[in-house]
Amino acid sequence: MKAAPVQASADSSRSALGSERDGIDQTVSQIDEVLNLAQEWRQAAPEQILNTLSETLARILRLTLVYAVIDDAGGAREVELFHADAIRDSFFRAHRFADLFAPWLDSSISPATGSFPDPVDASGLRIAAIHLGMNRRLGTLIAASQRIDYPTAKEMVVLRVAVNQASAALAEQVHFGERRHAAAEFEARMSNRAAQLIRANRELKGVRDELTAELGAMEDLHELSTRQRRLSDMPSAINDALDSVMELQSASAGAVQLYEPNLKGLLMVAYRSLSPEFLSRFTFVRDGDPAWGRILGTRSRVIVEDANGPENFAPYQQIAIAAGFRSLQATPLVGHRGNVAGVFSTYFREVHRPSDFELCMTDLYCRYITEMVDRKRAEEERSKLASIVENSADFIGIASLDGRALFLNPAGRSMVGLGKGAPLPEGIVSYLSAKDAERVSSEIWPAVERCGYWAGETSLRNFQTGDVIPVLQHIFFLTESPSGVRLALATVCRDIRERRHAEREADEIRQELSRASRFMSLGEISTSIAHEINQPLAAIAANGAACMRWLHREVPDIGEARASLERIIRDANRAGDVIQRVRAFATKGALTRSLLSVNEITSEVLFLTHNELERESVTLRTQLADNLPVVAADRVELQQVVMNLVINAIESMRAVVDRQRVLLIKSTREPSSMIEVSVCDNGNGIPAEQRGRLFETFFTTKPQGLGLGLSISRRIVEALGGRIAATENPDHGLTLSFTLPIASPAS
Ligand SMILES: Nc1ncnc2c1ncn2[C@@H]1O[C@H](COP(=O)(O)OP(=O)(O)OP(=O)(O)O)[C@@H](O)[C@H]1O
Ligand SMILES: [Mg+2]
Repeated sequence: MKAAPVQASADSSRSALGSERDGIDQTVSQIDEVLNLAQEWRQAAPEQILNTLSETLARILRLTLVYAVIDDAGGAREVELFHADAIRDSFFRAHRFADLFAPWLDSSISPATGSFPDPVDASGLRIAAIHLGMNRRLGTLIAASQRIDYPTAKEMVVLRVAVNQASAALAEQVHFGERRHAAAEFEARMSNRAAQLIRANRELKGVRDELTAELGAMEDLHELSTRQRRLSDMPSAINDALDSVMELQSASAGAVQLYEPNLKGLLMVAYRSLSPEFLSRFTFVRDGDPAWGRILGTRSRVIVEDANGPENFAPYQQIAIAAGFRSLQATPLVGHRGNVAGVFSTYFREVHRPSDFELCMTDLYCRYITEMVDRKRAEEERSKLASIVENSADFIGIASLDGRALFLNPAGRSMVGLGKGAPLPEGIVSYLSAKDAERVSSEIWPAVERCGYWAGETSLRNFQTGDVIPVLQHIFFLTESPSGVRLALATVCRDIRERRHAEREADEIRQELSRASRFMSLGEISTSIAHEINQPLAAIAANGAACMRWLHREVPDIGEARASLERIIRDANRAGDVIQRVRAFATKGALTRSLLSVNEITSEVLFLTHNELERESVTLRTQLADNLPVVAADRVELQQVVMNLVINAIESMRAVVDRQRVLLIKSTREPSSMIEVSVCDNGNGIPAEQRGRLFETFFTTKPQGLGLGLSISRRIVEALGGRIAATENPDHGLTLSFTLPIASPAS
């Protein structure tokens, strides 16, 4: 520095010194003011720090404008502050600060100075720009003034102190903010996690409650199913199941109905909270009920969530509504054979649908009940069967598949003479009579093997007495259901001694009746017979007298006498023949089948009855086919059939006075290896209402009739393999015809 004149320079230097000191003082007080801000900035937000910083600097350094900015970590403007008068404020804000101040904001030099056009004063603005931040750059402060000397060195000192001060506060704030942010984040995370934990805990509690409830329900079921229940406990088991399911489903009412095959319907066996009207309708539901039919048909559960909805479970739905229920479920009890053994239903007061778990548990209860019902039914069946076998009058035996006797019921034991405890002879063939034992390997066993069963007449052997017992025997396999695997051999034998006896008796009675009927027929034709016998007898007498005369001549005429005697013998034979036939017809002889010609039989009958026909003025017509094959029958029986028809025909024409009485007898060969004989009259026939009774035993319209003729005839014809029938003639009378099979060469 150049020295000034002493005095003057002393004064001036004094004054210069004074102003210098003033300047220093001012700067010191400015710095002091700036330093004091630190107090204020403790715990202040960055905006607040920048605000007081720029205000204070604008005031103490008489600045025209101050721009302060804090950048965030990503370089964006986090806090931006502009301090100026109104005109400059609107100008600078209209232009983007970042663009206007870019050279200083982006500059790595700090502090830096420069100038800037001023919209108000053409002389421009002088700028001092200092970056904020201690260890890293936080932002920038731009402080501008119109003054030409701005910034002075002192002012730069003040600015730098102020910026340092603010940077320290900001750094602390950033640090503090970060900590606070981290703490807040941590807190948020904590509370989030806590909320999650609370939620999870609540859910867990719900799940635990649900699991506890489900476990409880399962335990109930388990207890119900494992408790050693006797079948007699079934009602209480069903009641327990109903209670458990109602509790499980929170149902208001419920019922269990079981199908009773004997009653052919559903019977309610347990119920809860159902009204009398409800019960009166559903205590017994007969087969054919539509709702029951639907369950039977689908074999699946019906759920009506809202009974007011569409009607698909009539009539339960309407009745449930009337009883104050709003929803229901009905689960079928499906047995192991697929049969529906009953229905398990529950009712609710609200619109409702049981949960999947509840339905699943309900199914398990239903299965349990079904098994019990099935078991009980099987047990009943078994005991029924056992008592039938035990009490049966038939021989019932079971043997192993290789033919060793395993079981014989009491009736069987007594039939073959085995005492109660006596051991069973092993081989099943030994139970048969010798004759039938032979048939086992040749006939019976192959049929059983082939068809699985055999039925026919055999005879058993009494081990004690050796008696032979005729039986009707069935042999079959006992099989496992449903596989059909053969388990054992079973037989049922019915003692047919009684039947045989009865059959013999009935046969004897029939034969007696038949004979009585033949006697009646002979009675009817007695005039005929008398005539047949009288005629030869009269001829014999006449020829005898003639013979006598020829012999009493003076010269006996031996030739004529011989001729008379020959006629006598012929007539005697004829008479004897008639008597022979009548006797044969009337006596009780054993039936013998022989090959007969129906034409011959017909002729014989007509021979015996021709006088009767004459007496009754019946015109006889015959159309007997030539060369008919023979039939195999008993002669007397066949005669009896034809005789019955001829006599009936004659009797039917007795009342006929206005027309010729005609009897037409025909014999023909039928295409079906049969021979037909028909006896056609033109009598008055029989009223329509009686026609069906023609062949009934003891049906007669005649005062002296027995009503046996046609029924005996039918029995004879059918036993020979033929048919007998009556048809109405188009004009008058009936035609009775019978067929007989043509005898085969073997017969
Ligand atoms: N040709 C016929 N025309 C009309 N009715 C007949 C004829 N044949 C049988 N009937 C009716 O059928 C009934 C039964 O005949 P059926 O020969 O069985 O017994 P019946 O002649 O009455 O007595 P009987 O046992 O003595 O023969 C007769 O009473 C008669 O009413
Ligand atoms: Mg008759």
